[in-house]
Amino acid sequence: MATQTTVTSRRTAGFGNILLNGAIVAALLAAIYAASLLLEQKGLELDNESVWCAIRASGAVAYLLLAASMAWGILLSGKLVKRRVPAALALELHTYLAWTAVGMSVYHAYLLLFSRFFDYGVLDLLIPFVGPYEPFAVGIGIVGLYVMILTSASFYLVDRIGYRSFRLLHYLTYAGFLLATVHSVMAGTDGALFNSFYLAISVSLFLPTLARILARRRREPARIYTS
Ligand code: HEM
Repeated sequence: MATQTTVTSRRTAGFGNILLNGAIVAALLAAIYAASLLLEQKGLELDNESVWCAIRASGAVAYLLLAASMAWGILLSGKLVKRRVPAALALELHTYLAWTAVGMSVYHAYLLLFSRFFDYGVLDLLIPFVGPYEPFAVGIGIVGLYVMILTSASFYLVDRIGYRSFRLLHYLTYAGFLLATVHSVMAGTDGALFNSFYLAISVSLFLPTLARILARRRREPARIYTS
């Protein structure tokens, strides 16, 4: 009982830290944006080409981090990781990768505020399907990010909602990844160069997922209902 309470309070404290860090980062990003608007009034503007490169690079890194988090999540339930990596460390790494992907995606979206190729405001980044550039493709990215935040937060809800509901909620990770993939392929302005890279990553994650589902089905014999 005492151990259960310690684990629960540690998880709650972990979520509290994430909220606090998120609030600090949001305040810093808002301050940097305000400073850039002031500098712009004085004629000091950021180089638009560099901003565009940073938007694309951060999008690609966010996608890689999300894929890494998914891959580690798939490996977590396999014997290889279970035998070699302590469970707490393995779960910590999964949580860490998931939140880093969220952070990088937020940064990727935030950079759009500095771009003069696109005319984005804060609300265009928060509300899906209303922005000035490719509203559908970008809207899917916004919904994907919300799903990523929900599934990353689900790590801290397990004690409140129970393991079964946690698992069901956590399966949304696949939906989040699918949305991020569609967004990455459709929204990138230089598709020919990178799309095959995003598609190759998504296929290489799909195959082990399928293998895992099939293996689990084989392990669990079909239930026979008598009434
Ligand atoms: C609020 C959420 C998001 C917004 C507003 C947004 C917006 C955009 C925009 C405008 C582009 C086109 C940039 C360009 O090529 O000129 C783009 C591309 C891209 N985004 Fe997002 N995005 C969001 C979420 C995400 C998420 C969650 C991921 C992945 C985890 C992601 C990954 C990418 C990638 C990989 C590209 C293509 C970069 C390239 O190869 O050119 N985005 N996004």
